[in-house]
Amino acid sequence: MNVLRGGQVFLNGKLVSTEIAFDEHIQSIGKDLDGKPIDCSGKVILPGMIDAHVHFRDFSQSYKEDWHSGARAALKGGVTTVLAMPNTDPPITTLEMIQEQRRRAEQSQIHFGIFGGIAPENLARLSELAAHVTAFKLYMGETTGSLHVARRSVQREAFQRVAETGKVLAVHAQQLDSPSEAKDLEVALEYAVQTGVRLHLCHVRTREGVELAQDAKRDGLDVTIETCPHYLFFTERDLERRGAWLKVNPPLTAEEDREFLWWALQEGWMDILASDHAPHTREEKSQPFEKAPYGLPGVETSLPLMLDAVEKGSMSLARLIEVFSTRPAERFSLTQRGRIEIGCDADVVVVDLKKRDGVRRERLATKCGWSPYESFKLTGWPVMTFVRGKLLYVL
Ligand code: NCD
Ligand code: ZN
Ligand code: ZN
Ligand code: ZN
Repeated sequence: MNVLRGGQVFLNGKLVSTEIAFDEHIQSIGKDLDGKPIDCSGKVILPGMIDAHVHFRDFSQSYKEDWHSGARAALKGGVTTVLAMPNTDPPITTLEMIQEQRRRAEQSQIHFGIFGGIAPENLARLSELAAHVTAFKLYMGETTGSLHVARRSVQREAFQRVAETGKVLAVHAQQLDSPSEAKDLEVALEYAVQTGVRLHLCHVRTREGVELAQDAKRDGLDVTIETCPHYLFFTERDLERRGAWLKVNPPLTAEEDREFLWWALQEGWMDILASDHAPHTREEKSQPFEKAPYGLPGVETSLPLMLDAVEKGSMSLARLIEVFSTRPAERFSLTQRGRIEIGCDADVVVVDLKKRDGVRRERLATKCGWSPYESFKLTGWPVMTFVRGKLLYVL
């Protein structure tokens, strides 16, 4: 049994000077616990982050990222569970590919969930696949890979079929050429009303988009809203300056949206923060704008970025844990995670809230070899990450 001693533990929304003892699960919380002590003086102990949106590539794109490098990047960023997107090559749309994804994920030691990808060919089999996935993913807009389902009738049927499985349906609803995110989200919200599906809106990044989803939620729709760090730290002005390096789908927007997202996070209008870790190599991203692929790596920088924002007063630590751990666990039915509590999985991250350091390319674990946040100086870094009680990362 390990005992984390001398630190402040995040319990029920507050930091408390106490100890936690764990094997694979959290066994006790209190003072002078028995077990092998690990010194956490001056540190803060948080539930591990749950990143509900990562692209770990692998298969034919293992040169961009694979489960091994992706998991190392996640653990370095205090992330103990990742939910992996299905737009791999080949895509995760069959039972064989789901099992192949699982095999790779298991070797990486991190906790994971698998999104089943929806394609016209597997619609009739979603109920069979449901037992093998955490949730389903539908690309209603253009995306990296082959999973874009453009036809409205097929999209509508997908909503219906997923509703029948009881699983959450995560959607990429934004059209690339669309002037309004809200118009695109509206279609998804309407199908959700019609079918009763449990809807999750990926990478929402405009004020009107958030407000529209929030209205639907107030009307009783079971919908959760996700945003990502890049929409909190960059705008279209940065895109003009940095070009393809900040090319991401859906694209960066205006400063007013960025400010609104911070407000929405703090007010509880945002359910989930996820990285949308979408690694492409430096070579790929240094091509001319039109040719370069969409996507930014982010799984290892999200927590430090957000801890720095907490330090600056942009949001509270409690809200951060809510959107980056507790809510994702609830939404995707990871019942023993997302909080520090006796009986929960011992997925914890020890952070040094005072450590100040830059994001440095040479220290990144992601295979893609770059970060949009290089040159950012941040205060607040993970120093130890445990999954199922096993120490898998030490600074
Ligand atoms: C993602 C990718 O590269 O897989 N890219 C991105 O810009 N977000 C795809 C996606 O999330 O739609
Ligand atoms: Zn146990
Ligand atoms: Zn997407
Ligand atoms: Zn994505």
